[in-house]
Amino acid sequence: MFKQLFIFSQLLLLFFHHSPTIFAQSPAPAPAPLGPPNVVGILKKAGHFNKLVRLMKRTKMDARIFSLLNNSNPLTIFAPTDEAFARLKSKTLKSFTYQQRIQLIQFHIVNSLLSPLDFETVTNPLSTQAGDNTKYKFPLNVTVDGDQVNIRTGIVNASVNGTVYSDSQLAVYQVDRVLLPLGFFVSPPPVPAPPPPKEKASPSDEDDEDDEDEPKPSGAMPVIYNGLGAKSFVCSVIIAFSLCV
Ligand SMILES: *[C@@H]1O[C@H](CO)[C@@H](O)[C@H](O)[C@H]1NC(C)=O
Ligand SMILES: *[C@@H]1O[C@H](CO)[C@@H](O)[C@H](O)[C@H]1NC(C)=O
Ligand SMILES: *[C@@H]1O[C@H](CO)[C@@H](O)[C@H](O)[C@H]1NC(C)=O
Ligand SMILES: *[C@@H]1O[C@H](CO)[C@@H](O)[C@H](O)[C@H]1NC(C)=O
Repeated sequence: MFKQLFIFSQLLLLFFHHSPTIFAQSPAPAPAPLGPPNVVGILKKAGHFNKLVRLMKRTKMDARIFSLLNNSNPLTIFAPTDEAFARLKSKTLKSFTYQQRIQLIQFHIVNSLLSPLDFETVTNPLSTQAGDNTKYKFPLNVTVDGDQVNIRTGIVNASVNGTVYSDSQLAVYQVDRVLLPLGFFVSPPPVPAPPPPKEKASPSDEDDEDDEDEPKPSGAMPVIYNGLGAKSFVCSVIIAFSLCV
């Protein structure tokens, strides 16, 4: 039907233009096989993911996502809204290094295609593009509570607020918080360390030495600090004693 309409309109064009060159043109080529879905295009069209799109572009993650999809990797993307970015404490993004900004985007990309039904049965923590999902790195948990899908990172609790896009390879879900990775904020507790060296000992030792130089009140028993001091004290006692006798 559309094809027929198209041909008809082409004929009309020909009729009105009488242009011989048009006859030379080959028929319109068949549309090129569809490439992977264009995530930036999808987000832009939705209209309220401008900050996410900007961050994806600045970190060149847009190209990385394209490449993953073009290589047939299934992905699920959690897309924080502009409002979610606005909820971040001020300077949070600024405090991240370029590498961390890349990791932040990667953390929002799950390495599998998850349908809303899958959320109920996923194994937490999920595997994301950010890599290591162990406790003090990039753990991301998705849980379902009634009809609410929650995401926990250990730093933020987010909710999934709807599907932006889904096909057989890609799902994009809207989330109400930027998913901050635990590893950016919390370091693992220190491994039980050997007792710290007595750093405090030396300054007070110096103090003691200073005290030693101070004149001692006459008649007071001097504290014996070391062998040399003890010897000279004993000597002076002996000398004093022999003088007295
Ligand atoms: C996407 O993949 C196709 C084949 O799978 C390849 O020919 C094409 O070069 C890829 N495009 C980019 C931009 O990597
Ligand atoms: C995520 O799930 C794992 C496995 O159930 C659990 O050990 C971990 O404490 C959870 N983390 C958060 C932040 O909910
Ligand atoms: C996330 O939810 C858990 C369980 O309801 C709660 O213990 C935790 O304090 C919440 N974390 C934040 C950052 O809101
Ligand atoms: C997202 O979902 C949560 C939980 O259902 C809800 O509290 C919140 O208001 C929703 N946010 C938006 C923007 O719809």
